[in-house]
Amino acid sequence: MESGHTQMKATPADHLQPQTAGMQRYPHLFSSLRLGRLLLPDRFAMAPMTTNYAELDGSVTTRLCEYLAARGQGGFSLIITENMGVHPSGRVMPRMVMADEDRHIAGLARMAEAIHATGARAIAQISHCGRQTKSKFTGMPLVAPSPIPCPLNREMPRALALEEIGEMERAFVAAARRVEAAGFDGAEIHAAHGYLASGFLSAYSNHRTDIYGGSLENRMRFLLNIVDGIRQHSDFTLTVRISADEFVQNGNTLEQTTVIARALEAHGVSAISVSVGVYESFNTQSMVSGEAEGRWLPLAGKIARELEIPVFAVGRIKRAEMAEAAIARGDCAIPLFGRSAIADADLPLKIRQGREADIVACVSCNVCLGRAARPETICPANPAVGRDHEFAGALAAAPKEVLRIGIAGSCLAALTAAWIAAARGHQITVYETDGCIGGMQQWRSAVPTQHEYAELVAAAQRRAAAAGVRFSSRAPAAGEYDRLWSVRRYQPGGASSPNCYEVLQGTTDLPPDATVLVHGGDLASSEAAVKLAKAGHRVELSTPLADICLDAHPGFRVLHKRLITEFGGRVHCAVSAPEPGAGQTLISGPATPPGRKEMMQADWVYPYAAWGTADASIDDIYEADRMTAGIYAAAELAFHT
Ligand SMILES: Cc1cc2nc3c(=O)[nH]c(=O)nc-3n(C[C@H](O)[C@H](O)[C@H](O)COP(=O)(O)O)c2cc1C
Ligand code: SF4
Repeated sequence: MESGHTQMKATPADHLQPQTAGMQRYPHLFSSLRLGRLLLPDRFAMAPMTTNYAELDGSVTTRLCEYLAARGQGGFSLIITENMGVHPSGRVMPRMVMADEDRHIAGLARMAEAIHATGARAIAQISHCGRQTKSKFTGMPLVAPSPIPCPLNREMPRALALEEIGEMERAFVAAARRVEAAGFDGAEIHAAHGYLASGFLSAYSNHRTDIYGGSLENRMRFLLNIVDGIRQHSDFTLTVRISADEFVQNGNTLEQTTVIARALEAHGVSAISVSVGVYESFNTQSMVSGEAEGRWLPLAGKIARELEIPVFAVGRIKRAEMAEAAIARGDCAIPLFGRSAIADADLPLKIRQGREADIVACVSCNVCLGRAARPETICPANPAVGRDHEFAGALAAAPKEVLRIGIAGSCLAALTAAWIAAARGHQITVYETDGCIGGMQQWRSAVPTQHEYAELVAAAQRRAAAAGVRFSSRAPAAGEYDRLWSVRRYQPGGASSPNCYEVLQGTTDLPPDATVLVHGGDLASSEAAVKLAKAGHRVELSTPLADICLDAHPGFRVLHKRLITEFGGRVHCAVSAPEPGAGQTLISGPATPPGRKEMMQADWVYPYAAWGTADASIDDIYEADRMTAGIYAAAELAFHT
């Protein structure tokens, strides 16, 4: 049973709506909900996510509006925007949307209007990042409750003086007034993840001895003053995001957070959004593939059962079944979709229409979060993100000349190029002779805990097939194509055989009792080690670098160290390549240092070159950032042919 909030009764108009397959299957997800002054028709809500799509001065761009509108059109009935800055000292990145001056109201109004035009409702998240930013973004010294640097950014903040705390409280209240004036249906105060408001709440970052520090009552003062300040002038929908557990020493746990949530309810907020973590425990916030889906639902559920107002939950909720069950159990009123909404803007629509198999689901690679490939949000599952409108237009634009294009190889970039070129009207055949559609990402799906990559490949193949792409298990014959695009694959230069790619591909045949020394500081080496350790080998993973998986999101370092240790292996950092002894096999990773943008041309092989001279090549790459760059390049090729 749902608990703690009002589930709306069906209205006469609801009965006139035909029940789709999805609505029948997921009655809780498709039930309406009262959220403060808002009446939501269903529970599809997008979590706040920074895009870096704004102008450098914090103004809203058309690009940002179109990105949000695409999610509204895709069926999200509530869109919680990315965090908007309430004060210049709280900027988190160069292109953060700002709500700190009245001059931004017109742009914010465009943003609200773009969302409203799709029928969705809009809540603006307002935020100050406190010490968890860099002065190169703020242009001024960092500020925080206490002069303690964030262990990740390591920049010493200045403790706010009492009168400055009042200024920050007023900045939040003024920002809420601005987003309301701009037409937003509500505001969300960002008091999670270690940012300024959350920094005050926690003894981990707040060592003050005045009325803003010490007891939990004092630590809540900053946040409650902001809530009261907003409530003095407005009864619009007001939600607060908090971290149920910060997972750091002296940080807040469920015990303190439940008290905070109750106090917020008593002060008149409309809903509590339950997240977890601070920067230091970043890997809990946006978990990588391999972490349990919906892991934090029980935490949200504990808070939800203490409150009357609705609670939002988050954390790798990507499947309708899980979202439906979470509401039914009473863990939350709204299961937020975060990265899943980046990966597929149409996720709610596909669920509604009973087309779940067509969802191109997020694989939690964190390319969007890590921003190593590009500073703004990009996604290997969805190369349309952030150019949503332009992409749809380009897909619909017919080519000058319809071509028969053969694609030799079927990596994710090839499937993406095939889809785009076919949607534009070309006749596309993908030739794959090794029986493994998806290339390296299909290999990756065989690494313990990384099975979601097989789902992504299957979805990309279905997307291509729906656009008319044909698949062949033989090599292309001469005369079958006007153009040939050939997949090339990175081969670890100078590495021994067997190497980590052969392990991942499954072409090595090691004796079961072999001790394996895997040497490499990249993701592929690390995942080869995980695979071997799970298969029962004694594994020693070593790297000459300071850490493992240096070319992947840091969450993978934590996950893989845990997995390798759990499977009985060991990890050694900053050591030179081991000399294999008797009964030991050395498996090498790439010689090219991880993180290097360009790989040596000589390290590339063209597995299908024998079939003819390729007109263009498409890259099959293991690691997510460079794999994404390969997908974007393949998309460009398909658009310009
Ligand atoms: C690219 C990106 C940007 C994010 N920006 C914000 C933000 O501005 N405010 C916020 O409260 N959380 C932010 N988050 C956290 C998400 O709202 C969400 O809690 C997290 O991604 C876990 O949900 P998911 O597994 O559904 O993605 C961000 C996450 C990502 C991946
Ligand atoms: S970039 Fe990766 S984590 Fe982000 S939405 Fe896309 S698939 Fe998910």
